[in-house]
Amino acid sequence: MKDNTIIVGLDIGTTKITTVIGEVASGGGIDIIGEGSVPSEGMKRGSVVNLERATHAIKQSVLAAERVSGVKVSSVYVSVAGNHAKAITSHGLAAIRRNQEIGQSDVDRAIENARAVPLDPNLEIIHTLPQEYVVDGQEGIKSAVGMHGVRLEVDVHIVAGTAGPLLNLRRCVQEAGLYVEGFVLHVLASGLATLEAQEQAQTVIVVDMGGGTTDIGVFKRGNLAHSATIPFGGEHVTADLAQILKIPMEEAENVKKRYGSALPDLADQDLTLEITTASGSTHAISAFELSRIIKPRIAEIFSMIREEIDHTLGPAEMVAQSVVLTGGASLLRGTVELARDRFRLPVRIGRPRGIGGLTDIVGGPEHAASVGLVLYSLGENGRVPPIVFKDQEPEKSSEPQDPIVRTSTSPKTPVKASATPAKPASQNADSGIMGRVRNWLKEWT
Ligand SMILES: Nc1ncnc2c1ncn2[C@@H]1O[C@H](COP(=O)(O)OP(=O)(O)OP(=O)(O)O)[C@@H](O)[C@H]1O
Ligand SMILES: [Mg+2]
Repeated sequence: MKDNTIIVGLDIGTTKITTVIGEVASGGGIDIIGEGSVPSEGMKRGSVVNLERATHAIKQSVLAAERVSGVKVSSVYVSVAGNHAKAITSHGLAAIRRNQEIGQSDVDRAIENARAVPLDPNLEIIHTLPQEYVVDGQEGIKSAVGMHGVRLEVDVHIVAGTAGPLLNLRRCVQEAGLYVEGFVLHVLASGLATLEAQEQAQTVIVVDMGGGTTDIGVFKRGNLAHSATIPFGGEHVTADLAQILKIPMEEAENVKKRYGSALPDLADQDLTLEITTASGSTHAISAFELSRIIKPRIAEIFSMIREEIDHTLGPAEMVAQSVVLTGGASLLRGTVELARDRFRLPVRIGRPRGIGGLTDIVGGPEHAASVGLVLYSLGENGRVPPIVFKDQEPEKSSEPQDPIVRTSTSPKTPVKASATPAKPASQNADSGIMGRVRNWLKEWT
């Protein structure tokens, strides 16, 4: 690790493009010295659909961060959306000569053998993440170098990206005058920014709830061991509201953020909103009813995550000790409580930690991936860099945490939100005006 090095993360998301500039101080520690976020352009579900517009937005985001930091950015770590990545876990083996210690070259050979799996030629390997080692049948070894044995085995989590989308991303970043230092799987970056020291000894499900997608990463003792993507996120909640309330997306977004809740029980029971539709008619809706529109979508996302984990790894509550929700959409009221109910595990919001500098700007869950990109460059094998936990000792025990917190939710959801997106906001731009809020004063005083 170099001292006083500038490291830049470029998170190209569905709703925003964020640049975070980090500085590694000589005494250790990472200071965030610049941040720039602009609305995403030219992107759809993690893919570039318009090179020029995406390049323009990337430039704007980098410029904004440069202005804050006074630093000129030349190279960046770029996030890759999970829907363009395929991940497999492969097993590698290396024989060790009798009476010889295991050396780094043996470890490299075992990893190389694990990498030698036939991959679709359309895929480009992004990460080769060694999990734990097995020496002569002894499992759970973190570092095999220096040990004695005749048989070294390792499971390696290989993450590969689809070549086309990666090439397009690289092209945009280069057109913006920047060098791609590396691609990083979005949910890996989110996990690196949010996992706490004691979680390094456990199995934790990290769920990054973004705008267009929700990414899942299962971190086993600090290693990314499984990843998947659900093609729904916060924008779909907004689209449901826009369609059912018949208001433009921008207004639905405001209503969702201010008054929405993923659990009707947590909605303000006294609040009623008066909505003026795009056609000019008005209707009233209570915050309770609003959250009955929202809940099915979030519940659907959690069900899909559960299905994915149950199917590939086994029942979530048996496999993992906790869930960390991050990404902007995790900020919706009631999301944590609904997740506790669905996963039957302790759930918390994951915010970037272990950094200094502009923590007030990058301290929210929507910055997990961009901060994680900076941390990625300082860690080894896709693990949290030790510098982050320099003042803390990770817990030794990997025993499951016991408290299972449940929240009562109604079993049936009377309002079924439609999956059809509402008209884009631009089509309704000047017709709809958010209705007056009857209890405005009551709420804000
Ligand atoms: N306070 C809030 N309450 C509810 N939802 C919120 C809040 N703040 C942000 N969101 C939602 O978070 C989503 C954006 O999250 P985020 O910024 O993590 O997305 P992204 O990184 O651009 O998307 P992706 O990771 O899918 O590419 C939007 O749908 C937005 O409505
Ligand atoms: Mg994101």
